[in-house]
Amino acid sequence: MANDRRPDDMVRITTNELADAFIEEQIASLREQIGSKKVLLALSGGVDSSVVAAMLIRAVGQQLVCVHVNHGLLRKGEPEQVIEVFRNQMKANLVYVDATDRFLNKLAGVTDPEQKRKIIGGEFIEVFAEEARKLEGIEFLAQGTIWPDILESEKGIKAHHNAGGLPEDMKFELVEPVKILFKDEVRIVGERLGLPAGMVYRQPFPGPGLGVRCPGAITRDRLEAVRESDAILREEFAKNGLEGKVWQYFTVVPDFRSTGIKNGERSFEWCVIIRAVNTKDAMTASVEEIPFSLMQTLVNRITGEVKGVNRVLYDFTPKPTGTIEYE
Ligand code: XMP
Repeated sequence: MANDRRPDDMVRITTNELADAFIEEQIASLREQIGSKKVLLALSGGVDSSVVAAMLIRAVGQQLVCVHVNHGLLRKGEPEQVIEVFRNQMKANLVYVDATDRFLNKLAGVTDPEQKRKIIGGEFIEVFAEEARKLEGIEFLAQGTIWPDILESEKGIKAHHNAGGLPEDMKFELVEPVKILFKDEVRIVGERLGLPAGMVYRQPFPGPGLGVRCPGAITRDRLEAVRESDAILREEFAKNGLEGKVWQYFTVVPDFRSTGIKNGERSFEWCVIIRAVNTKDAMTASVEEIPFSLMQTLVNRITGEVKGVNRVLYDFTPKPTGTIEYE
């Protein structure tokens, strides 16, 4: 493709007009590249893959097959949103795979963080490859690679995670329509393609999902407590004007219980840790100063609404010494 690299003189896409011009240009070149063939895309629901999906739906419609693998570690409402936006609204050809049991069974009893990540990543590729094998006539694989991914892999900071991973016998030509864009540009382009703001302006979310927020061996009860408390935190941050202001916020449910009292009786339950941080590049981070009254609301709601939780803590640790995630 002609625009394989970001031209040195490319104007930063900051306006609707520039985004529309980029979309038009990409759509023409995607149609030329793909012709009447089929394209496959692993659609996580994150910003980059969602924007790629929206772009390809506009360019080649039903020739795009999106596969959404629910590994059971997504946030509350996420798989439903992917189905609503892409299948119901954008009329995409979407294969939804609920692989929750498969992932959680493989992860049962695994405590080592790196091992957990490996299992999640490996299983993801296996499920995706299985789905790909069921489809006929796929010649292209679309990916949400963006310009910083390419720069970082060139500098040796991190392996370019997108390419590779699939079994040797599965060879596809790559389609990477946002590979010359920076993240802020991807967001504007996504908005212009009609994606909801909540999808394109969402906070970062790690690939291994809630799995890294359930430290130690993942159990279904703690995972549910992470998911429910995270939903409450997001709802309260949105209500209190912190959504879009705080860079990343989430909850963690560690693998220990403490004594408490609920309904006049002894309880022996999990605690929820709240983390809310600000950063520019995720290399260092500072802690958000949450109003005390909001903290009290969060404690009341989480201990009242989340099953198996009797305590709420706030993590005051900047990065360093703590990383943003717990694993
Ligand atoms: P840490 O915990 O290293 O996180 O301070 C820095 C940022 O990276 C995100 N993160 C990940 N993102 N896959 C991802 O796509 C991962 O495995 C992963 N681990 C951490 C984290 O959420 C934070 O924004």
